[in-house]
Amino acid sequence: MRLSLTVNGQEMKADDIWVGESLLYVLRERMGMPGSKNACEQGECGSCTVYLDGVAVCACLVAAGQAQGRDVRTVEGLAPGDDLHPIQQAFLDAGAVQCGFCTPGLLVATDDLLRRTGRPTDPEIREALAGNLCRCTGYEKILDAVRLAADRMGAAS
Ligand code: FES
Ligand code: FES
Repeated sequence: MRLSLTVNGQEMKADDIWVGESLLYVLRERMGMPGSKNACEQGECGSCTVYLDGVAVCACLVAAGQAQGRDVRTVEGLAPGDDLHPIQQAFLDAGAVQCGFCTPGLLVATDDLLRRTGRPTDPEIREALAGNLCRCTGYEKILDAVRLAADRMGAAS
């Protein structure tokens, strides 16, 4: 099948798609967007989190055929230009990036949280990021990063 969808505001097409291959595979291997990571391919780790029609989902669990005609936003689309998004900057500044494999999914999940809740409590942060696994940081620095991003974005608005 030919797959047509919008990715980060751009119309994208890919041919010879098997309807059952994952949206994550399409993004990474067919559309040249490796930002969303493939760590488990089973919906367990959150490293592949993207927005599908504005809802954060695991791209590894979305079949390509389900994405037909829909709107996808990936970690590559978070920042509007060449500058880092405030959430990206906060993760760097808080030391929340080690190997970085979990980071793209955490960035999208944090963006989703802060869009819904500008000043989340710690339990709200933990709940929002519960589906995103990190094997490096011990999570405290990730919590610091989300608090920092919330403070900065709150101060800027
Ligand atoms: S790669 Fe999708 S949840 Fe782990
Ligand atoms: S920084 Fe390595 S898995 Fe999170």
